Amino acid sequence: MVWSKDYNKAGEIAKQAREFARTLIKENVLYLEIAQKIENKIIELGGKPAFPVNICINNVAAHDTPLINDERKLKKGDLVKIDIGTHFNGCVADTAFTMEVGTNQYADLIKASEEALNEAIKIIKPGIELREIGKVIQDTIMKYGYSPIKNLSGHEVKEYIVHAGLTIPNYDNNDKHILEKDTIIAIEPFATIGEGMIKEGKLSGIYTLVNKKNIRSLEARKVLEFIDKEYKTLPFCARWLKFPNINFILRLLENDGIIKQYNQLPEKSDGIVSQAEHTIIVGKGVLT
Ligand code: CO
Repeated sequence: MVWSKDYNKAGEIAKQAREFARTLIKENVLYLEIAQKIENKIIELGGKPAFPVNICINNVAAHDTPLINDERKLKKGDLVKIDIGTHFNGCVADTAFTMEVGTNQYADLIKASEEALNEAIKIIKPGIELREIGKVIQDTIMKYGYSPIKNLSGHEVKEYIVHAGLTIPNYDNNDKHILEKDTIIAIEPFATIGEGMIKEGKLSGIYTLVNKKNIRSLEARKVLEFIDKEYKTLPFCARWLKFPNINFILRLLENDGIIKQYNQLPEKSDGIVSQAEHTIIVGKGVLT
């Protein structure tokens, strides 16, 4: 399997953006400001965002990014997950962390996903079965008295693809597939006080190009060309598209089945969720 040095570059940028992001998590700060500052940092460091910065609060596990003019602010006692994707020439790195805003009530829940991630990284080597990784994640989270989210998983990354090929389970799903050297995977344990499943929630404002085809509106065609050139199959959001009437145009593209919008993913029983994530090269180590 081939991998490029550009993955190291993407990983280094993701790591620095994550450490910068930690300094932004404070009471009364706008989600929008956090997302924009992290995305600008990625660009300043020479990379590009591989997807819009995800800011997910409390029971929402994944897929929430600020809209244009989003007015939501962090509140004291929120549990915040920040999920950051970077790419360098298409080579993707994916990393996430969880912090609470101004309180110390979720320290164990945060530790559960972090420790699960670290324990998983310790055992990953060429020849390991995917289920063994899932088992370590599950056992570690359950040791803390929480549940792993079973229908969210880690994933392989490839050029211009965030969720490629392999699925890395967060529990022992009996998958005996063997990891090969140099495969690039993101491991992302989610721990929750809830039942350990997510459901589909509200629309997220995160889109991806699914079916490039002709559209009558000239304005929509220009936007589509830009998306195809700039993001290819990587997720994007309205904040990034500096075109007039962008929300209307995105609706046209969505109605025509050209782009699709992801749903937010809240925990099924509305349990609070923590997450930790790193991207690693099997047999070589952590990129992020
Ligand atoms: Co990921």
